[in-house]
Amino acid sequence: MLTANGLAGFTPRHLLSISDMNRLDIEMLLDLGEAYLDLSVQKDTQNHALAGKTLINLFFENSTRTEKSFELAGRRLGADVINMAIAQSSVAKGETLLDTAATLNAMNPDLLVIRHGASGAPALLSQKVSCAVINAGDGMHEHPTQALLDALCLRQAFAKTGQDIGGMRVAICGDILHSRVARSNIQLLNILGAEVRLIGPPTLLPADADRWGVDVFHDMKKGLEGCDVVMMLRLQLERMGGAFIPSKREYFHFYGLDRTKLAYAKPGALVMHPGPMNRGVEISSDVADDPEISLITKQVESGVAMRMAILHALSLKERGGRS
Ligand code: NCD
Repeated sequence: MLTANGLAGFTPRHLLSISDMNRLDIEMLLDLGEAYLDLSVQKDTQNHALAGKTLINLFFENSTRTEKSFELAGRRLGADVINMAIAQSSVAKGETLLDTAATLNAMNPDLLVIRHGASGAPALLSQKVSCAVINAGDGMHEHPTQALLDALCLRQAFAKTGQDIGGMRVAICGDILHSRVARSNIQLLNILGAEVRLIGPPTLLPADADRWGVDVFHDMKKGLEGCDVVMMLRLQLERMGGAFIPSKREYFHFYGLDRTKLAYAKPGALVMHPGPMNRGVEISSDVADDPEISLITKQVESGVAMRMAILHALSLKERGGRS
């Protein structure tokens, strides 16, 4: 069984934002994630670090990868896992988030994972319950566990070359404006010392992006120059109130990643996408499905291991009163 020895000094009680952690916390989680990744390829993937603990998954927005990987991570660690089906819960009868929180809190969970359409919902919940709260995506705000799993995936992918995330140039491309994945990844990559570039049309870049410690580009050719990693984002049509792009076909022409545009990046550059992908809109199938350059499947694999590490680390904190 993996022990938590390497977590001495891990400070956060909740994981609501990347800004809850310092570099040391992040490195400790990545080290544990790496150990769990090794475990995931062994015959017996079970570990009992969360035996006797209860994990509640509360997803108010659709999810495939994130919800299932938290469920699998919890089960692999021996926890009792409850997935709340919101459509069949009292939320559908008009219960407020805080009343739902009070009900769940009375069941004494140890860990609560929440995805919500409103930015700040996990932070609000964390003030009302006595267990650890993990943000699995809140509106356009943050998705910290995605950024952590992406970093774990990069560590693994570049292990052979000995290249450290701190020395990488990473381009995050596409719909930055609506992306919580981008907001968490920018912070995490900055903490780890990577050089971050944002590439997208002006309508899909926040007005204050140049104050985020990044370089902003509107042209893929210029932006991708010398990049080790190209992270593509989905066009978040469900968060767009109006027309942000002329057409999907035109968007692909200027910003969709195909082999021609990938050739602007560093030779051997690797491609990421958090999923779900819109093929032919932000990325071509040709690039997405090439295991030599695409890390997309590996990101999902890293997701389970990284979430095991996060659940393990946060379960070590004393269950407190409301904080
Ligand atoms: C992302 C999300 O939900 O923010 N997906 C994910 O968690 N794997 C990105 C997206 O929906 O485009």
